[in-house]
Amino acid sequence: MKMRAAVLEEFGEPLAVQEVELAEPRAGEVLVRLHACGVCHTDLYTASGADPSGYSPTVLGHEGAGVVEAVGPDVGSLAPGDHIVTLFSPQCRECIHCLDERTNLCLAIREEQNKGHLPDGTTRISRDGEEIRSFMGCSTFAEYTVMPEIALAKVSPEAPFEHACLFACGLSTGLGAAINTAAVRPGSTCAVFGAGMVGLGAVAGCRLQGAERIVCVDLSPQRLELARGQGATDLLDGGDGAVQRILEMTGGFGADYTFEATGNVAVMRQAVEAARMGWGLCTVAGVAGKGETLDVVPRLLITGRRIAGSSFGGVKGRDQVPALIDRYLAGDIDLAPFVSHRLGLDEVNRGFELMEAQDGIRSVIEFS
Ligand SMILES: NC(=O)c1ccc[n+]([C@@H]2O[C@H](COP(=O)([O-])OP(=O)(O)OC[C@H]3O[C@@H](n4cnc5c(N)ncnc54)[C@H](O)[C@@H]3O)[C@@H](O)[C@H]2O)c1
Ligand SMILES: [Zn+2]
Ligand SMILES: [Zn+2]
Repeated sequence: MKMRAAVLEEFGEPLAVQEVELAEPRAGEVLVRLHACGVCHTDLYTASGADPSGYSPTVLGHEGAGVVEAVGPDVGSLAPGDHIVTLFSPQCRECIHCLDERTNLCLAIREEQNKGHLPDGTTRISRDGEEIRSFMGCSTFAEYTVMPEIALAKVSPEAPFEHACLFACGLSTGLGAAINTAAVRPGSTCAVFGAGMVGLGAVAGCRLQGAERIVCVDLSPQRLELARGQGATDLLDGGDGAVQRILEMTGGFGADYTFEATGNVAVMRQAVEAARMGWGLCTVAGVAGKGETLDVVPRLLITGRRIAGSSFGGVKGRDQVPALIDRYLAGDIDLAPFVSHRLGLDEVNRGFELMEAQDGIRSVIEFS
């Protein structure tokens, strides 16, 4: 079939929205009609050429929500009409990692996904016979996509698409960092560095876990106000004095749980230093630049602080994304403030501009 899609042709150039070919789903694959898709830093990172593992041509986009249009052979868990959220982090439910509760890093399709292929080593998108690769296994800046069944979460049809798509990436990452990775205990003190989608999700996650005090640190007063709306009790300007201020606020000890959601290694270090001696846990969610390292004084670890990394918030997507969306539908999380701009597919490059200007939290592409 023919469809419209935003293609990354050349790194550093705007995406080109055009008509491309999409082939039928094969065994274990599903054809999805997209309704909404968030524009994320990772899309821009690849489009700019900064990502050393990037490839082109490819259809970008990985924060999709939509409806199953058709299924290929051997698909058992999804049927036409089901509402789905796309998962760049799949869940096969069979690999050694999926069977272990300690991680969400499914091993089933990693290698081919990293190369821009579907699990069988080929792609479904093409143009005049030339293959166009699948980005993060999703390619959701398009009217339709074909994805593996194991990379789609079946979610409640009650959830509006423009909110459901937020759960495909940053929001679940932040929520999961607090709920899964840190497993914040009720009554705790938490400090969240960064108030973008991920940090705001972490603030909400800490609140849902019953944290008593949630300090949010950012450079932007507007973003700190959004953090208050998600449950932050204290707002702090980022920068050199942030650790000292958190220590002062906690009787000199530091926070029970700290979260880093900036991608800046200097802030990661601050998040470690702001964690409490004895049991403070620092969860790193931000993605640092290639080759950068985290500088930590080992004495901080000897005296009981721990550091954990968190990919997609430790969320096992097919099981937990539907559950998180149910909590949202129950009124536990207010998502309206996160959707700052609604764009058509033709305006996708405007989404990148808004993000670079830090205008709002998420631009969402809507497909009519
Ligand atoms: N682990 C994962 O699976 C995963 C998933 C999605 C995104 N990420 C990463 O998480 C990070 C955050 O993503 P986002 O979409 O929320 O980004 P974002 O750019 O919207 O938010 C980052 C925030 O950090 C703030 N900040 C910058 N410097 C600061 C400082 N010195 N002190 C305090 N705050 C500071 C910025 O003002 C901004 O509000 C990125 O590195 C992203 O790549 C990780
Ligand atoms: Zn993303
Ligand atoms: Zn698996």
